Amino acid sequence: MCKDDTAALTVIGIINRGNNYGKIYKYELLYNCPERQMRLMNKTISMEDIWELYGVRSNPFSTSPILVRGGNLPLECFVGRQEQVKRLARIFGSAGGSRTLVYGDVGMGKTSFVNFVRAHAMMQGFFTPFKEIAILDAWNPDEFVHNTLAGIYSTLKLMRSKPISKAVYSKLAALVEGVTSKTIGGSVAGTGGTYSELKQSPVKLTSYFLQQLFQEIVSDISAKTRHDVIIHYNNLDLMEEAEISQLFNNLRDFLQTPKVHFVIVGSLATHTYIQNMPRLSSILSDTPIHIDEMTLPEVKSIIKKRFEALRISDKLNYIIPFKDECLAALFKLYGGNIRNILNSLSPAALEVTSEKPVILDISSLSKTLKRILGERYLSKLTKKEKEMLLVMVKYEEVTNKELAESTRVARPNVSTYVAKLQKAGCAYLRRKEGKDKFWSVDPRVKWMLLKEITK
Ligand SMILES: Nc1ncnc2c1ncn2[C@@H]1O[C@H](COP(=O)(O)OP(=O)(O)OP(=O)(O)O)[C@@H](O)[C@H]1O
Ligand SMILES: [Mg+2]
Repeated sequence: MCKDDTAALTVIGIINRGNNYGKIYKYELLYNCPERQMRLMNKTISMEDIWELYGVRSNPFSTSPILVRGGNLPLECFVGRQEQVKRLARIFGSAGGSRTLVYGDVGMGKTSFVNFVRAHAMMQGFFTPFKEIAILDAWNPDEFVHNTLAGIYSTLKLMRSKPISKAVYSKLAALVEGVTSKTIGGSVAGTGGTYSELKQSPVKLTSYFLQQLFQEIVSDISAKTRHDVIIHYNNLDLMEEAEISQLFNNLRDFLQTPKVHFVIVGSLATHTYIQNMPRLSSILSDTPIHIDEMTLPEVKSIIKKRFEALRISDKLNYIIPFKDECLAALFKLYGGNIRNILNSLSPAALEVTSEKPVILDISSLSKTLKRILGERYLSKLTKKEKEMLLVMVKYEEVTNKELAESTRVARPNVSTYVAKLQKAGCAYLRRKEGKDKFWSVDPRVKWMLLKEITK
C-alpha cells in the first residue's frame, strides 16, 4: 500500500473538479508507485462523489432537461408554467391534430415544458416518441420526414407491447434500418411497388412514399391507442429565416396530417421569422406558446425539489450549498434564466467542496465564480482583449461598430479582439441582421458583475 494514496486521490479530485469534465482516468496522473497504478488503473473518481457530502445521489444543479422517460430528474421536479401547461394539454386533448410553436430564449425551459406535457399525455395513453426530434439546419423535407419516422421507430422498438400492426412496423423497420425488399415485400402504401423498388427511383417517389408511410403509421397507432400521436421537434433556432421558410413551405401538407399534434420548439428569433411567413403561420393551430423567465420563488422551488428527489435516503438530511441570497443575486444577474443560474451554482459548489460540505454566502459565491472565470477564461486573454470584454459585458448584444464607437478602438482591431474572445469561449454570435453581427458575452462572463449587483 502506498502512503500517499489519499493525497493522490485528493489531487485527482481537485483536478476533476477544476476541469469540470466529470470522470477522468487516473493513470494519467500516477507515477512512481506501480502497486497503486495497478490498483487504480480501472477505477475512476467522479465529480459526482462530492454530492454524497450534501446528501444527494447526483448533481442537483444539472442542466439536462426533464425527460419524458428515464431522466435523472423525475417529473415531480417540474415547477410552474400552469397556464402554458393547461393550454398545451388542451391542444393535445382536442382530437384531430394541431401545429403549435413553443418559443423562448435559450435555456428558459422550453424542452422541459413540452416533455412534461408529453409525459402526462403518455400516461393517458397517447403515443409520442420519447426523445424529441432535433432538427438540423441542413435537412431537406424528405430528411425531415425520414427523421420523424426514425424517431417513431426508436420508441416503438423499445415498447414491449407495440401500438402498431406487425406489417406496418416491419415496413418502418425496413426503412429505418435499411433492410431489403425481401423483408418488406408486398405493396407499399398502395403504390403496388416494394420499398426497394421505390428506393431505386427516389427522386420521384421518396417524398410520396415517406409521407404515405407516415400516414399509415399514424392511422394504425391512433386506431390502437384511441388517441392522436404527438411529435416534438426541437432546435428550430439553428435555422435561418430563409431555410425555415423553404423547409416548411414544402412540409405544409405533411404538417397537416390528421391525428398528429406537431409541437415545434424555437427561439425568440424563430417566432419573429414565422410571424413574417403568413403561409406558415396560417397553419398554426393557436397563438404560439411563450416560455419566459422563471420567478425567484419558482427557482427556489426547483432547487428544493431536486434535492428532495435526489436525496440519498428519506432518513438522511440534505444540505443545499448556498444561502438564499446567492439565488437572489444569480436570479437578478440572469433575469430568471434557469439554465444560467444552474450553470453558476454547479461549478461554484464543485470548486469549493473537498472533504466536507460548504454553504456559500454571496461574497464567497462571487469570489469563487470570479476565480473560476479568471482561471478558465480570462487567463487566455491579453490586456486589450480583457478590456474589450469588460465593455461587452455591459451590453445584452453589441455590434463591432458600436464597440468601435464606444471604445474608440479602430474597427479592424475590434474585429480581431472579438474574434479572439469568441475563440476563447468568452463571446458568441447571438444573431445576424443583414450584414450586422450582434455579439453577446458568454453567460459565465457575467460573473464579473456579481458584486456590483449585490451592492
Ligand atoms: N419548469 C421547470 N421546472 C423545473 N426545472 C426546469 C423547468 N424548466 C426548465 N427547468 C430546468 O432548467 C434547465 C434548462 O431547461 P431546458 O433544457 O428545458 O431549457 P431550453 O429552453 O429547452 O434550453 P435550450 O434553449 O438550450 O434548448 C434544465 O436543467 C431543466 O431541467
Ligand atoms: Mg431545449
